[in-house]
Amino acid sequence: MTSINVNGKTYELKDVPDDTPLLWVLRDHLGLTGTKYGCGVAECGVCTVHLDGVAIQSCVTEVGEVGDSKITTIEGLSEDGSHPVQKAWREHGVPQCGYCQVGQMMMAAAMLRSNDNPSDDDIDSEIWNICRCGTYPRIRAAIKSAAKEMQSK
Ligand code: FES
Ligand code: FES
Repeated sequence: MTSINVNGKTYELKDVPDDTPLLWVLRDHLGLTGTKYGCGVAECGVCTVHLDGVAIQSCVTEVGEVGDSKITTIEGLSEDGSHPVQKAWREHGVPQCGYCQVGQMMMAAAMLRSNDNPSDDDIDSEIWNICRCGTYPRIRAAIKSAAKEMQSK
């Protein structure tokens, strides 16, 4: 049996092989469906979650690799959608179809932990997630708004 800590809660996983991708544990076993599936090979970023605050791709992370580390999904980023990134995303009306946006926000939130004043170049190099709807300019603007709010605290 494997146990994992997700959004501050410990879950015991029965009959889940250690090589199961974390993405499917989150979605199918824990019902945390905010995290999405796209490419399955760490190339689109849509499945991004945090492992001890660092952005990882859950499609290529085996649940057995997680150990005692703490996982955060979009459901745990804040209790009520009040994380600066979530607020900025609403303010700027970032999503179009919306499918990629959870991954974009999780990537942005992780980046802002280590860089609270990102330049366009920082954003372009660190947020490599794919958006088929081309919302990149609004993503950039929202990240800058979130950074401002985080600096003012
Ligand atoms: S589904 Fe994980 S990076 Fe694309
Ligand atoms: S908003 Fe549609 S893929 Fe990004």
